[in-house]
This record gives sequence, C-alpha cells and structure tokens, in this order.
Amino acid sequence: VFSHLVQAPEDPILGVTVAYNKDPSPIKLNLGVGAYRTEEGKPLVLNVVRKAEQQLINDRTRIKEYLPIVGLVEFNKLSAKLILGADSPAIRENRVSTVECLSGTGSLRVGGEFLAKHYHQKTIYITQPTWGNHPKIFTLAGLSVKTYRYYDPSTRGLNFQGLLEDLGAAPPGSIVLLHACAHNPTGVDPTIQQWEQIRKLMRSKGLMPFFDSAYQGFASGSLDTDAKPIRMFVADGGECLVAQSYAKNMGLYGERVGALSIVCKSADVAGKVESQLKLVIRPMYSSPPIHGASIVAVILRDKNLFHEWTLELKAMADRIISMRKQLFEALRARGTPGDWTHIIKQIGMFTFTGLNPAQVSFMTKEYHIYMTSDGRISMAGLSSKTVPHLADAIHAVVTK
Ligand code: LMR
Repeated sequence: VFSHLVQAPEDPILGVTVAYNKDPSPIKLNLGVGAYRTEEGKPLVLNVVRKAEQQLINDRTRIKEYLPIVGLVEFNKLSAKLILGADSPAIRENRVSTVECLSGTGSLRVGGEFLAKHYHQKTIYITQPTWGNHPKIFTLAGLSVKTYRYYDPSTRGLNFQGLLEDLGAAPPGSIVLLHACAHNPTGVDPTIQQWEQIRKLMRSKGLMPFFDSAYQGFASGSLDTDAKPIRMFVADGGECLVAQSYAKNMGLYGERVGALSIVCKSADVAGKVESQLKLVIRPMYSSPPIHGASIVAVILRDKNLFHEWTLELKAMADRIISMRKQLFEALRARGTPGDWTHIIKQIGMFTFTGLNPAQVSFMTKEYHIYMTSDGRISMAGLSSKTVPHLADAIHAVVTK
C-alpha cells in the first residue's frame, strides 16, 4: 500500500550529518548541525551536568512515574525565571504560564498549535532567511507562514529598514517570530536600540511576539544579556510567547528539554491558558520526559552549580568567538579576496559565509567539508587544528 511513495529528501540540516557519516575521508569536517564540539572535535557533556546526574542517581527516593501533562513544575518555574529574570513583574504577578516541552522544536510546535486554536490571527511572520524547521513547524501547527525581510546580503548585516517596512505592513495582530539572540542562520542580531524600535512598532500594531530562544548565554556569554530583548517586551506589560531550549546552553541536545512560556495579562488568564495548553499536549505526546528536566532543575536551583554552569557556558561562548578570530585571521593571511569581517561581527554558533550552493558543494567534494547549502557554518564545530583546512577550502573556492 505504500509502494506509490517517493523517497523523501534528507533534512537540509540533519541530512548534512548523514552525508558526513558516510564519508570515509580522514580529513572530513562537519560544520553542518549546530552542536558544540571541543578543541578535540568531540561532543561535550558539561561537568555540571555530570554532577547533577550523579545527584539524581544517588537519590534513591526518585521514581519514574509519569510527569504531569505540563511537565516538571519546579523546572517550569526555574525556566521562566531564567529567561524572564528573577525580578520579572510578570512572574511576580503570577501571569506566566510555563510548560515543559521537547526542546525548542517542541516548544515552538506546542505554541504554534495553541495559537492556531485560540488566537484570532492565524498568520505568523518569520525572518527571511530563518532556521529551516521554522516554516514546517508552524505550517503543520495550522498557521499560515509569511516572511519579513531581515538579512541584507550586500552588507551581510541586518536589513533594518526592510524589517520595519514589512512588520509595519503586516495585518494588525499578526504573530511575529523573533530570534531572541544569535539569529540562525545569519548570526546577525538587532542592536538594543533597534530592538526598542521593533518593540514599539509591534506593540503599536498589536503584533504578537513569539520568541525563539535557543542560545541564551551562547551569544554573548551572559545569560542576562542574551535575554534582554525578551525582557524589554515583557517589561511593557504586554503579552508574548517564549520557546526555550536547553540543547545548546546546557549541552542537553538529545535529552530534548525545553519550555514554552506564555506571558499573559493576568493570573486568571494564565491559568486558563495553561488548562488549554494541556489539551494541546495530551494528545500529542501525553507528558514530557523526566530526566533532562530534572538535570536542569538541579542546576538552576543550586547556587554553586548554577555558578559553575555560567562558567562552562562562558567557556563555550569564548571558544566560538576565538574560532571566529582564527578563521578571519587565516583568510587574511592567505589574502583571500573579499571582505570577511562578517565572520567576526556575526554572533553565536553560526557564520553565514555568503558562499553559494555551488561553492559549498565544491568544498564538500574536494575538501570533505560539510555545511548547509546556504553557506552557513557552525563555528562550534571548528578547532584550531581544523581552521587552516577550512581557510584553504574557502580560499580555493573563491579564487577558482
Ligand atoms: C541547527 O540549526 O543546526 C540546530 O538548531 C540543530 C537543528 O535541529 O537543526
């Protein structure tokens, strides 16, 4: 009965790893998926995560019962505090509804389904370009997806004018997806002054902000700095949605741990929102997993572990920044034609190199370097040892 099916293409991001795994070359390099690697090119389990897991194992009172539909309640409270700030007026006034979800993707999907069911506007505006999964998540959630201008290829920076024009022309009440920090794939973020202008424009038109926060602490190395745009929107008393992921900032990729927070106008509304979120979640996956959320809760509740986490987080962010400098210097040393300053100006895990699909394919074929076809490279996958190889490949492809 399924013989009519055609072979589906691999995912544009995760498929890069599939191709990489098949390549027998000893010099192969995977700069596709945004996953942190050490200087030795190995995945990293944070020391603080190991400690938290040890605590959990030692606690013989722990059981494996189902979590409630909303997930681990302590984790939800701590997650809201982490992203909105301990002194957030919305938390103080009890008007935030937070549910544990399956990492960033799951949080976006639950939020999208909730909006499709209960919000009067069914159109969501996403940045052009954006993370490849965004349009799929929201379309399948039942929303209609449109784009707003964001990136200017000529400056490799923000097209702020285009952004303001497009959001200004969006029908009142439309949902707008905003990358809280470290925009994926471009690494280009608005300045705080620009965020303030975006906030004013969106509030004046009643546009609904939906933040995707996948990199808190990863962009600047500071958890508070990276959450600032979200906190500006919450400080004005208006509503918003926030999807949080702990994949990158705690290195909990495969644990699939994240949270969706909906900031409401009152405690009464937040209670009703939570009751409706449960109706979205229960038929989708019943309730979320317990282990990853427990690790996060142990770390966030303990002052010492929290502090240790911030140090490890800063070390990861700093290593990425150092990779940017090294790659930039390596291209300069080779006299590679072009302005490569965007490598050091862009923020977070990715550099949007400006290389086109044909150039990417040449680098994969000739140099065994794997990256997404839009020219995005994961800086977290680089090391001092592999920078020269990448610089050689870029140099070869642009001088070809
Ligand atoms: C990425 O963009 O590489 C990451 O967010 C991982 C993913 O799921 O695509």
